[in-house]
Amino acid sequence: MRIFSEHDLSQLNTLGLPCVAEQFAEADSSDSLLAVLSEARNNAVTVLGGGSNLILPPYLHGMVVQPTMAERHFEPLANGGVRVRVGAGVNWHELVIAAASRGLWGIENLALIPGHCGAAPIQNIGAYGVELSDVLECVELVDIRTGKRVSIDADECEFGYRDSVFKRRLDSCVVITSITLRLSRRPQPRLGYGDLVERVGGSPSALDVAEAVGAVRREKLPDPRQLANAGSFFKNPLVSARQVQMLLSSYPDMPHYLQSDGRSKLAAGWMIDQCGLKGWREGHFGVHDRQALVLVHHGGGSAQELLDFSATVANEVNRRFGVTLEREPRLAGGGEAEWVN
Ligand code: EPU
Repeated sequence: MRIFSEHDLSQLNTLGLPCVAEQFAEADSSDSLLAVLSEARNNAVTVLGGGSNLILPPYLHGMVVQPTMAERHFEPLANGGVRVRVGAGVNWHELVIAAASRGLWGIENLALIPGHCGAAPIQNIGAYGVELSDVLECVELVDIRTGKRVSIDADECEFGYRDSVFKRRLDSCVVITSITLRLSRRPQPRLGYGDLVERVGGSPSALDVAEAVGAVRREKLPDPRQLANAGSFFKNPLVSARQVQMLLSSYPDMPHYLQSDGRSKLAAGWMIDQCGLKGWREGHFGVHDRQALVLVHHGGGSAQELLDFSATVANEVNRRFGVTLEREPRLAGGGEAEWVN
């Protein structure tokens, strides 16, 4: 285990924000993670996955640890299911392709989502009608407070839309070391989104679906290697039945998706687009010109500028629609109030 001091993280976050960590270490096993945590003593610990859903401050005090556990186990089950246990450091898209190539169904719609497997439960990654919570069995983690290894079942993860216990009660308390999924050999294509059905034709394989989803994403979403971004910058807001009816009377074409609790999910990208902000650029940041929910960094900017830019976008949506947008990527390094300024 090697600990680096004053380590540059600018290449380790897909927003390309400049950041220096006081200390940085990789951990390729639970044992090396425990050694890093004991080295950190009582200092702050920040966990870095693929850095694709994170806003980094210019300086991170304490220890930044990147789990790099790389194991991948596929365990066939009696009923045609396959249990897949993967280390936190495995690249999510590589797992999707490895599973789909074996004819396993369940995560093909989540192709090309950036980031590492260990981060997937935190915001309950989801796209094209599927969420991680649909297939997750359990999560193994190390509790930073006690140094104990713990396994928690999916029903203890309190999953919601882009939400889990790891964003709330267990925020900053644990390091996920592996995730276990239950996939299936039985074909179960979920092609309800957009033109996926037309793209894959009849009887697609899991790999056909993963490739079609990849093609849709490449058409709309910027590749962070070419244009720095963190995917959707805002969550799609959930609003009451009353509010959605009011909005529909002014905007009859507004996309809205009824939820099981009677509320509706609105499309934040559509609202930003309606405000005329798609493709808008100010300083080093901009609204992506093909998907208004994605904010992009053209280089040379700071986290504070990004937060100011995003506040302008959110204020504009609020002024026009009376809807509050919540940020999706998380701020690293302490509480929000402490972080901003
Ligand atoms: N729309 C516009 N203009 C835009 C963007 C969207 O009019 O600039 C409209 C679309 O035409 C559509 C609606 O808004 O009617 C929804 O757009 P889209 O299907 O592109 O999906 P989204 O709601 O903007 C969410 C996820 C994405 C995920 C897609 C597909 C969130 C925050 N984002 O985006 O996830 O890929 O659905 O399932 O829930 C991510 O989290 O980083 C991400 C990319």
